[in-house]
Amino acid sequence: TTVDLVVDDYELGGSTDFMSKEIHEQPTALARALSGRLNERFATAHLGGINMEPRELRAIRRVKFLGCGSSYYAGQMGAQLVEELARIPADAEPASEFRYRNPVVEADTLYVALSQSGETLDTLAAAQELKRKGGQLLGVVNVVGSAIARECGSGIFLHAGPEVSVASTKALTNTATSLAMLGLLLGRVRDLSTADGKRIVAGLRRLPEQVAEILAQEQAVAEVAARFADTRSMFFVGRVRGWPVAREGAQKLKEISYVHAEAYQASELKHGPLALIDNTMPTVVIVPDDELLSKNIGTIEEIKARSGAVIAVTNAELPEGLVDAELRVPRNETELDPILFTIPLQLFAYHLAAKLGRDIDRPRNLAKSVTVE
Ligand code: G6P
Repeated sequence: TTVDLVVDDYELGGSTDFMSKEIHEQPTALARALSGRLNERFATAHLGGINMEPRELRAIRRVKFLGCGSSYYAGQMGAQLVEELARIPADAEPASEFRYRNPVVEADTLYVALSQSGETLDTLAAAQELKRKGGQLLGVVNVVGSAIARECGSGIFLHAGPEVSVASTKALTNTATSLAMLGLLLGRVRDLSTADGKRIVAGLRRLPEQVAEILAQEQAVAEVAARFADTRSMFFVGRVRGWPVAREGAQKLKEISYVHAEAYQASELKHGPLALIDNTMPTVVIVPDDELLSKNIGTIEEIKARSGAVIAVTNAELPEGLVDAELRVPRNETELDPILFTIPLQLFAYHLAAKLGRDIDRPRNLAKSVTVE
């Protein structure tokens, strides 16, 4: 299940490891994913690889994203985007769960298999099961010619370039961005207005530069990570758009630093996990400046009242002294927030793991792609 890494200086191009190299490739990788796919005139996305007529796109009544690990979390971001932009019910499920529960496959549901490698066995098996039952299937895949890309036949390529680090970074960013374009396309054949379509197109165009802005603050994130490097366990919480961001942030930390991290919906904190909060349990809170800002500030106050430290990932102006550390994110359209909010958490996990001396590209017990049962 493991693939040997042949690391040479040429491939690393001056970086110390692949994860850092791939984190920093994100602005260019994102620009490639967007290239030629945004249409200003009709305020929509042009996704040639999905081979579906507007009439077929309009007939879709539900969207289901399937993937594993970070691809599953990108799918959760995508489901939220599709619901917001197209008002079509959408959700994400781990491909492994889907394939083993004899799923009900509906003719008017669009199934979307998500995979960086295109070789993850559970995702491939889910795609095969769907095809056997006659489901409409698209693949959102990075590796051209991979098993899942071939099985699906049509879909969206990520154009992220090769990803070597076990912990996925640029592939997740490009998956979430591709699903934003799918949501835009589905929305514009329905009721998303031209004005809203234009707003999203312009927002997508700003992403590469804004990701570069976040990466330019790497030193500040590294300092925050160093302050929390001796912690045994951490919570990551977010609401709605922030929830998959929290899950991905916790996953990154676990994978490469081996520090225990648990993601929770911020709204559910008071129904149980709040009992665990004390001065040894820091919490990362995803705090976009959106309609849920006051709710998230309430959550932070509840944590602070129990002496818990709070690291906010935010583009809002928070009350002075409210949190212990801030990871700043630039403003874009709120629908696209998850894409940007994920980036500082990659840097946070990376620097915390580096501080602990972990082998970042080769975390113990994990493989880049799991191609066996
Ligand atoms: C493995 C990797 C994860 C990755 C997942 C899905 O578990 O360790 O980083 O997210 O597989 O991989 P895929 O290639 O299908 O996106």
